[in-house]
Amino acid sequence: MPTLTIFNDAAASAEAPAPAAPESARPIPAVVGADLEVPVKGGRLVRYANLDYAASAPCLEPVSAAVTAALPAYSSVHRGAGYASQLTTARYEQARHTVRAFVGARPSDAVVFTRNTTDATNLLARCLPEGTTVVVFDTEHHASLLPWRDAVRLAPPAFPGEAVRAADEALAGVEGPKLLVVTAASNVTGELWPIAALAHIAHRHGARILVDAAQFVPHRRLNLTALDLDYVAFSGHKLYAPFGAGVLVGRGDWLAGGEPYLKGGGAVRAVGEAPEAAEWHEDPEPRHEAGTPNVLGAIALAAACDALNATGWTALVREEERLLARLRAGLATVEGVRELALWGADHPRVGIVSFTVDGFTAREVAEALSAEYGIGVRDGKFCAHPFVRHLLGTADGGCEDGTASAVRASIGIGTTQEHVDRLIEALRAIVAR
Ligand SMILES: Cc1ncc(COP(=O)(O)O)c(C=O)c1O
Repeated sequence: MPTLTIFNDAAASAEAPAPAAPESARPIPAVVGADLEVPVKGGRLVRYANLDYAASAPCLEPVSAAVTAALPAYSSVHRGAGYASQLTTARYEQARHTVRAFVGARPSDAVVFTRNTTDATNLLARCLPEGTTVVVFDTEHHASLLPWRDAVRLAPPAFPGEAVRAADEALAGVEGPKLLVVTAASNVTGELWPIAALAHIAHRHGARILVDAAQFVPHRRLNLTALDLDYVAFSGHKLYAPFGAGVLVGRGDWLAGGEPYLKGGGAVRAVGEAPEAAEWHEDPEPRHEAGTPNVLGAIALAAACDALNATGWTALVREEERLLARLRAGLATVEGVRELALWGADHPRVGIVSFTVDGFTAREVAEALSAEYGIGVRDGKFCAHPFVRHLLGTADGGCEDGTASAVRASIGIGTTQEHVDRLIEALRAIVAR
């Protein structure tokens, strides 16, 4: 790796940073494509109402600008002596620092760039010490439910305290290394999980905790150190940075002990003549980031972290809660619409709502919303089959069962009151047929 003569662009600037405006005065950044028009039945064009942020959020303008700014000097990372290569390497490593700070990680924590959350959970799964037992709730997204070899699966808890009690009991009954896996915010109901209490219980039993923060970090500030979490995973494309990077942040020892995720250049320190004569890096970042990394993805992810922090969470949360309350109140007025919830209507949640509509399949509703009203929502089981079946009270119909599903509306930066109102009016019209 060349010596870095440039560390970050801000440091190179002679100008002192402007003092930050109070949070209430800072503008919320715009999203790219806010004025996208889409065709609806009859050939008209309407402004797209994107209510599918939980699947993939649009790109923030400052994220797009950061990627555009990095492109002229785009070059190789960790392997070039040229100026552009040094600059790109510095930007990549600066992105790591930014992401570390964004989640409040400990200085000793590893920050490994991955493709997405699924890639991050699979990376950790491959690095678990021999004999590790994983305890996971059936409510998880498949990315956090499926990668584990020896998993104890816990039934959906009836209330948050029951989640803590069930984890306590399950971890107490396990010997050897243990990992508790839990999502911070459900991708189906938006409900927030008691991750601080779960971390406390995990540690009492000598276990570690991995928090799937894919749906949490776009909506709330996360502090890994304050919550005493061991690992967090999330995806750039849900955090307004759709350039193909995600991240696993957390304790380095298991990662340093695991097989390199990919074997190739960058992960290896030296290679001898014999095929097995490879000396792998022990530091988790180079060890698990073989090959040319996704520099622009990392830069985008870091730019999103910067943009959210610069806007301030108070303003972001306030606006989201206003729109979410309007959305849920509106849904409650539409006949035959039933919102799905694990822990009741009053439990705190992020801007994600799943619901069913009596007399219609979820697919029929989603298709009508798109074709007639220019509204984008998701329908299905949201890669959380056991959880959605539990919420709907349906039996396991096997992989081919397409009937038991729901509609999901999810919001974020760029969502407007008009989008929310259009959805409610459209649903009202659909059920009135
Ligand atoms: C809670 C949660 N975890 C994990 C994932 C997987 O994310 P990705 O598809 O970016 O790997 C998702 C995606 O919907 C999610 O909502």
